[in-house]
Amino acid sequence: MVSDTPSLATPDLGRLQRDFEALSGFREPGLPGWTRRVFSEADGAARAWLADAFAQAGLRVSVDAAGNLIGDLDGQSSGPAIVTGSHTDTVAGGGRFDGIVGVLAAIEMVRVMRAAGVSLRSPLRIVDFLGEEPNEFGLSCVGSRAVAGALHPEHLRLRNASGASLAEALARVGNGGDPASARWRSDDVAAFVELHVEQGPRLAEEGVPLAVVSAIAGIHRVGVTFTGQPDHAGTTPMARRHDALCAAAEAILAIEAIAGDEAVATTGRLQLEPGATNVVPGMVRIWAEFRSPSERWLDGLEERVADAVARAAGRRGVSVSIEWFSAVAPVPTHPLVRKAARRAIHGLGHASLELYSGAGHDAAHMAVLAPMGMLFVPSIGGRSHCPEEETHLTDVVTGVEALAATVLELDRQLAPAQP
Ligand code: HGY
Ligand code: MN
Ligand code: MN
Repeated sequence: MVSDTPSLATPDLGRLQRDFEALSGFREPGLPGWTRRVFSEADGAARAWLADAFAQAGLRVSVDAAGNLIGDLDGQSSGPAIVTGSHTDTVAGGGRFDGIVGVLAAIEMVRVMRAAGVSLRSPLRIVDFLGEEPNEFGLSCVGSRAVAGALHPEHLRLRNASGASLAEALARVGNGGDPASARWRSDDVAAFVELHVEQGPRLAEEGVPLAVVSAIAGIHRVGVTFTGQPDHAGTTPMARRHDALCAAAEAILAIEAIAGDEAVATTGRLQLEPGATNVVPGMVRIWAEFRSPSERWLDGLEERVADAVARAAGRRGVSVSIEWFSAVAPVPTHPLVRKAARRAIHGLGHASLELYSGAGHDAAHMAVLAPMGMLFVPSIGGRSHCPEEETHLTDVVTGVEALAATVLELDRQLAPAQP
């Protein structure tokens, strides 16, 4: 541990193993991997299990109006809290570690702190943020947006395929209050730090157990609808077709080309109608996203995308409509938290890398409230958002130790020493 911080017991590998097994058991039937999408029954059951785990660890448990599961531990003072947390919802076909590591590590951190009789000067808060992954309403980071005051009425009016609104979905999983009431004040939070799997190959390839994150990618997400004309596949001459799928296919390749070397671009979802082999597709809808550490690259993206899809559609007499769902700017982590994390990791005797996060995180939203930082543990093979997502539990133990040491270091720096 960092020299002037109390020594904690080693996190309990067997207890963590049982937690990971229990939590990954809550999965949507019939879907690949460990799928547990927000608002699903599996997600609801998992969060009931987590609420009990929070309580067993000695936390005061609450659920806010945005469905965030919150565990509080009093400090010696009642000032702004040191906060850590992540998410436990997954993508469809997802794995057992993305987000989950940050929540289970936070619970284990509280257990080892309390077992050592350590109480912070500041209050300590851990959070399982609702719905970090993009959901059926097209929005990601629902819970952390609400906490940061970035969940707006237009978001609550978003509707899913069956016409239900996000507000209605939150009423089901939250405490029934107005989602705006989930917003924290900036003097509620002294600092925020999130432990997460890297979801990339660097730590595993270099044999380094931990990373301190430098910045989190900006992410812009868009929906594009191509409206052509359904026609008989056998009798319609090629020159007379308005094939929505060929237009979308050309647009998807143009979207890929927009990435260049400063960004990544992905079209991850596609719907088409009518979807019959012998009918020229009349309507196609695609969902795409762009990520970059560069605010300059992300500015003007909308024009580049509009040009690319208009050209692909125009050549086929297909009309096109574009809807931008979200635009989150790149977020640097705070030097105060980066330094505390590096000092804590050094105190543990571990090496670390400094890495940029191409993945988005709840931490990006928490940065508006307080100094924010992130720690990574290795992803085997760099894989994530797939059933093969894997992290050695011994690396999770190291992550718990690093999280605890960073929290203790932040507490030492930020909270006034008790008289
Ligand atoms: O998509 C992301 O970057 C995150 O894993 N939700
Ligand atoms: Mn994810
Ligand atoms: Mn995640």
